[in-house]
Amino acid sequence: MSSRIRFGGDYNPEQWPEEIWDEDVEIMRAAGVTTATVGVFSWSLLEPAPGEYDFGWLDRVLDRLHAGGIGVVLATATASPPAWLARRHPESLPVTIDGVRLAFGSRQQFSPSSSAYREHALRLVRRMAQRYGSHPALEMWHIGNEYGAHVPRSYDEESAAAFRAWLVARYGTIEELNRAWGTAFWSQHYASFDEVGVPSRTPTFPNPTMVLDFDRFSSDAMLALHRAEADILRELTPDVPITTNFMGPFKDADYWQWAEHVDIVSDDLYPDPADPRHHVLAAAARDLMRSLGGGKPWLLMEQAPSAVNWRPRNAPKPAGYYRALSLQALTRGADGILHFQWRQSKAGAEKFHSAMLPHGGTGTRVHREVRALGAELAELGDLAGAPVPAQVGILFDWDSWRAVEQDAVPAERDYLATVLDWYAGFLRRGVTVDFVRAGADTSGYRLVVAPLFHVADDAAVAELASVPARGDVLVVGAFSAVLDENLHVRLGGYLGGAEGPLQAALGVTVDEFAPLAAADTETAIGGTVTGVARDWQELVVVHDAAVLGSFGDGFAAGGAAITRRADESGGAGWYVATEPGEALRDDLVARWLVDAGIEPGFTRPEAFAETVVRAGRRLVVNHDDVTRELALTGGTVTVEARQAVILPAAGDDTVS
Ligand code: GAL
Repeated sequence: MSSRIRFGGDYNPEQWPEEIWDEDVEIMRAAGVTTATVGVFSWSLLEPAPGEYDFGWLDRVLDRLHAGGIGVVLATATASPPAWLARRHPESLPVTIDGVRLAFGSRQQFSPSSSAYREHALRLVRRMAQRYGSHPALEMWHIGNEYGAHVPRSYDEESAAAFRAWLVARYGTIEELNRAWGTAFWSQHYASFDEVGVPSRTPTFPNPTMVLDFDRFSSDAMLALHRAEADILRELTPDVPITTNFMGPFKDADYWQWAEHVDIVSDDLYPDPADPRHHVLAAAARDLMRSLGGGKPWLLMEQAPSAVNWRPRNAPKPAGYYRALSLQALTRGADGILHFQWRQSKAGAEKFHSAMLPHGGTGTRVHREVRALGAELAELGDLAGAPVPAQVGILFDWDSWRAVEQDAVPAERDYLATVLDWYAGFLRRGVTVDFVRAGADTSGYRLVVAPLFHVADDAAVAELASVPARGDVLVVGAFSAVLDENLHVRLGGYLGGAEGPLQAALGVTVDEFAPLAAADTETAIGGTVTGVARDWQELVVVHDAAVLGSFGDGFAAGGAAITRRADESGGAGWYVATEPGEALRDDLVARWLVDAGIEPGFTRPEAFAETVVRAGRRLVVNHDDVTRELALTGGTVTVEARQAVILPAAGDDTVS
């Protein structure tokens, strides 16, 4: 890894007359910009007619950037196909679940399974690689742009055919598909793959496994496009790293799979400064990106220097807060802080989106903050390449996400909000967390947490069950390990089924689910652990665990809510049959940290703050709107509203 932190952003010079380009490079240099992402939406200018290319302007852009010492992340320009593709190949346009074909005139208007799109996109990629593969400015390829942001799936005929081919590859025989989908139910049996369509509108609940498979297929269809571009780039420019920009935790693309096909994970994240919980999502997204890459540094590909323009109301970032969120990304493992975009657009749908160089020019508040950050990052080059140690692993699982949010479940659940609630308990104590893929080796973590891990295959169940036995601490949240990978119930008592090892590892079995009247309905917990929980109860049968908290009311009144089984190895297995409220969660997190021997970064829960350590520096951010004295382990620190400070990390920075 380089010993500098990349700084820069999307650069769209084609929106401006050429005279401005020299000025751009000059201002970039003065602002400490190292990197420009070029060409993301340039297809229609690069290939104005099918097979007719105009690379001259892009040549001049790259030459100028290079002369100015600015490296280029070059997009393959396939994110937004030109009008001629829509006109010649209307079948390439995506179709919604209601059969509406989406029109040209915005962006990303292609079906992921369109052969016409694919053929034309790959032809362009080949030309781009041939033309720019050895350009001295080229540092990285940026494939497509935010796959699935607007069109994560399409219900057109080519998609249906591709789905059938995907099913053949997955199941081999129609009998196996019938078994996996449980088609004996409601007379859904298929005699051949030809009878299988896409899960569009149905009279009532569609087949759950079919819906999940279509989600999986749709992620794979987009990934196949990414991989087809990557193959060409790897063939022609094997030494140039490739990436594509992820979008934080994004339900429609299983990034555990995607991350295997990029050289560096990159992320676009636009936390809403007006949402009091935005910092939780932001911190978690950074940690997820680091985790997707197996701990390797990642790249913040896009963020807004201030407001976005696509929410109903778009709050600017208060002075200094842009720096704080940028340093949050940096200390959580990013080796580059890039933005959308360099120069604020004059026309088009993003003219009110903030940019590094605002409409008002270099004298603006935003540009001053951009320059200051560029200068600061130039001093922080020693962080580049450094790992971010974590002792807690939280499972993050796309199949569980998709399954718990399907129809016909005990209660509507919000997977991401639930995982973020669990994550927030650790964030409030300044404890760094990695996210972990289902079934992955967790032996590097003292504490493994599985919230709402609803869909678990045998390997994942076995991995979790092994945690207490090896002397570490496992915490499993409600409604976990209920289904297998085909969404079939694991029979013989919930929590992995009678044959799975999880019931023994936790010493409990779950008999019934009892959602409360609404997600925010409270239930009292009493016992060694007391407090308020929400949303959910279960009837838990305890056979080999200590009951630390019981339900004080409701359907499960008197029954176990929070249990702990001490393993003879010294490890422990906790089960939490509800969703703890904030205070109860804080209490539980404190107990789990003690159980696992992990020292927190804050000595008490800090609701609107965070601290994290990377390469001997401790970042402390106050996300609140008032100045706060924060209780760091080792002493307090006062941080002004929405500001960040970097301190030397005291002692061993593997404990953070
Ligand atoms: C991203 C996209 C950028 C820009 C940005 C605005 O989703 O990749 O091109 O539209 O949002 O926030």
